[in-house]
Amino acid sequence: MQHILAVANQKGGVGKTTTVLSLGAALSETGRKVLLVDLDPQANLSLGLGVDISDDRPTIYHNLCGRGIATEDAILPTSFPRLSLIPANIDLSAAEIQLINELNRERALKSALSQVSSAFDYILIDCPPSLGLLTINALAAADGILVPLQCAYWAMRGMKQLLDTIERVRSRGVNPDLALVGILLTMFDSRTAASHQVKDRVREAFPDRVFGTVIKSTVQFNYASVAHQPILAHAPASDAAHAYRTLAQELQERMNQEVMSHAA
Ligand SMILES: Nc1ncnc2c1ncn2[C@@H]1O[C@H](COP(=O)(O)OP(=O)(O)O)[C@@H](O)[C@H]1O
Ligand SMILES: [Mg+2]
Repeated sequence: MQHILAVANQKGGVGKTTTVLSLGAALSETGRKVLLVDLDPQANLSLGLGVDISDDRPTIYHNLCGRGIATEDAILPTSFPRLSLIPANIDLSAAEIQLINELNRERALKSALSQVSSAFDYILIDCPPSLGLLTINALAAADGILVPLQCAYWAMRGMKQLLDTIERVRSRGVNPDLALVGILLTMFDSRTAASHQVKDRVREAFPDRVFGTVIKSTVQFNYASVAHQPILAHAPASDAAHAYRTLAQELQERMNQEVMSHAA
């Protein structure tokens, strides 16, 4: 069974890119074939894997807006076996405007990924910090959405807008089956009251959707991004790497349960 997950939250700096990178690496360690898709023009995911595309090499932009560029041609290997990347660069910032005039503007990514999806067990899409057309494309292409939520006092504020967007994507027929797969608490700091409050409130509001795994706040992630490596490569034995491995287990159990409950 194959899964396409959009990692989305319109707030920046909440751990989307870190989650795509670390969860992707952790899933690949368990033997899954994983494709990461960089859908943010800031290209932090690509840079986090040491990929800096400044030449004419195909990127996700060409897959979305280029004519006749095969999706496969944009896929790059990474230092992890079974972990591949479709990179982005700043060119992607033009895609939102170019896609507006397309007939199937919400489904450009879905159609691009359909060329390659059978080769992967998991496809993780790193969304930009907005609810614009790129994020809508991710929600149209995905079976599920995973929402990283930073444990800070304003964390819940954007949640309603995000849930409204998910509901619109469902009700307008763009993707009627889009599931909220899970909410991941990130940057948890046990010393702050705000962290505990957010954790309690989110668990109360979404009792069956919040992952049991909580990602703690640690500078290890900054060191890893400076080194252009996933935390699982930079500090493989760290608590931070271990937390994303636990999340990968939890996610796979959750996906299996959901497949079984659909089949029942
Ligand atoms: N659990 C964490 N603890 C501390 N810093 C983190 C954590 N997760 C991510 N970061 C750092 O926070 C910054 C923003 O994270 P990032 O994943 O890029 O967020 P987003 O993609 O949502 O904008 C990055 O510098 C990253 O290294
Ligand atoms: Mg990001």
